[in-house]
Amino acid sequence: MAPWDLLTESINKYTGLSPTAFFTILALMFVTYKVVSGMFVAANDYTAVKRENEFVLREPVQMGDVTEAELRAYDGSDPNKPLLMAIKGQIYDVSRSRMFYGPGGPYALFAGRDASRALALMSFEPKDLTGNIEGLSASELEVLQDWEYKFMEKYVKVGQIVGEKTVSTKENEVEIQSTEHDGDGFKETES
Ligand code: HEM
Repeated sequence: MAPWDLLTESINKYTGLSPTAFFTILALMFVTYKVVSGMFVAANDYTAVKRENEFVLREPVQMGDVTEAELRAYDGSDPNKPLLMAIKGQIYDVSRSRMFYGPGGPYALFAGRDASRALALMSFEPKDLTGNIEGLSASELEVLQDWEYKFMEKYVKVGQIVGEKTVSTKENEVEIQSTEHDGDGFKETES
């Protein structure tokens, strides 16, 4: 007897199913297994996530004036740097909420940025990942205000965003020019 005939006969004998029904059930079981196992984290990923969570939480350190470009380095990708996020130009240390803002977290896209516009609009669009809040409606600004209150209450403010810093010399004096955030834009200041 050919192996295939032997196989189909055995399937029928031991399961009472026709070979078609048997293989259909087998395929469905395989698909179900794949779908269900896909809902769980693989062992290697689990170890990576666990290691990620083992980072040391440090006391917030005051940063002072920080440019938007400088802030980008504090997105949690370097475990030795604090995790920072800004609202309305004010920078907060959100390291304690690494599960939200750290790499792989649901709100990681806000880390290292002023996310005012995205928060006001409740948006995850990359174009809204900015501190520019021009043109927002009163209700959107109110949403943003609520976020700001939440952050003020929960996190330590560690600095503020300034425009690009330029260093120039005038009559042997070193002068640092920067721009300060004044609500919805930047204004020039000198020190
Ligand atoms: C389906 C929609 C959403 C659900 C179910 C959801 C759910 C949650 C939950 C359960 C938390 C944790 C709250 C806590 O423990 O304090 C949270 C936090 C947060 N959500 Fe959402 N969220 C949603 C949409 C959004 C959107 C659209 C935004 C903004 C664009 C957003 C921004 C945030 C932020 C920034 C936090 C962290 C706040 C903190 O640092 O304490 N969420 N969200």
